[in-house]
Amino acid sequence: MSNTIRIERTTHPKPKPDPNNLGFGQIFTDHMFIMDYTAGKGWHDPRIVPYGPLSLDPSTMVFHYGQAVFEGLKAYKTKDGRILLFRPTNNMERINMSNDRICIPPLDVDFAVEAIKTLVKVDQDWIPEAEGTSLYIRPFIIATDPYLGVRPANTYKFLIILSPVGAYYPEGINPVKIYVESNYVRAVKGGTGAAKTPGNYAASLKAQVEANEKGYTQVLWLDGVEKKYVEEVGTMNVFFKINGEIITPALEGSLLAGITRDSTIQLIKSWGLKVTERRISIQEIYDAHAQGTLEEAFGTGTAAVISPIGELNWNGNKIIINGGMTGEISTKIYNVLTGIQNGELEDPFGWTVEC
Ligand code: COI
Repeated sequence: MSNTIRIERTTHPKPKPDPNNLGFGQIFTDHMFIMDYTAGKGWHDPRIVPYGPLSLDPSTMVFHYGQAVFEGLKAYKTKDGRILLFRPTNNMERINMSNDRICIPPLDVDFAVEAIKTLVKVDQDWIPEAEGTSLYIRPFIIATDPYLGVRPANTYKFLIILSPVGAYYPEGINPVKIYVESNYVRAVKGGTGAAKTPGNYAASLKAQVEANEKGYTQVLWLDGVEKKYVEEVGTMNVFFKINGEIITPALEGSLLAGITRDSTIQLIKSWGLKVTERRISIQEIYDAHAQGTLEEAFGTGTAAVISPIGELNWNGNKIIINGGMTGEISTKIYNVLTGIQNGELEDPFGWTVEC
């Protein structure tokens, strides 16, 4: 494969949005990256072209059987004008784990990171600089054979699109209300829960809609077999602070190995606090609340960053966590993580990569 990325610049640049009113994933930049895969030939023809619609045959496999994977990461502009990516290699390693589960051929990790860097540099004027904003990067792969039989495709497209974003939840860093889901399940061991594949998100929508109708922002998923152990929250991994110990569900095959989750664990350890990856039941959380030892709860994710949980509702039993306020540890993780990401704090972990 030729590793040269061809660049075709737009002749119609779009106006930039108001950086103080971005929301999440609604605005897209001027360019996108595309690369094709053909069995026997491998990945080929990497190019950056003006952002625009794709033309695909209605029989294209991804529309019918959902053979696709995606990632999410962010770019930041520092006060001195540098562009930083946060742990891009981890994202491209994870897309290959998802690829393996969904029978999509792997990407060359270094080349995929290079593609992200090249695209971000082309559209660098789109990186918002207001507090709490960033350029969200969405790499994804779709199966493109025009064919209705069920089998892995022989052709794929790898695309990267960019979106200037603010907070994912309208609540921002303020606590969200979460509905503990006891009816629907997200994933089981042996399923696709650990892969970042669209079907997992399609399967989550019904529960999310019902939770929204009850006044909750997201659902907290329980394990798919006993509906007893906590797994993850909507678009985030989840952490609980009980009696000084910070606990997050262990990665046992049905939940996403979040990069913000891993960064959070490393940060907490570096502060000398105790963080444990283990099974935690919803009953244990309610018991801790009853005993007054449930100190904080929060979600972690690239899109959401750190999102404190102010209320849980499990079968109609509501508990308010930390008085419904953003807790001390959530605030500290948010401040340090975003400080490292946007280059305002030193990065002792080597997480940020300059474009
Ligand atoms: C992310 O945090 O980047 C995600 O992929 C969540 C997304 C589904 C909004």
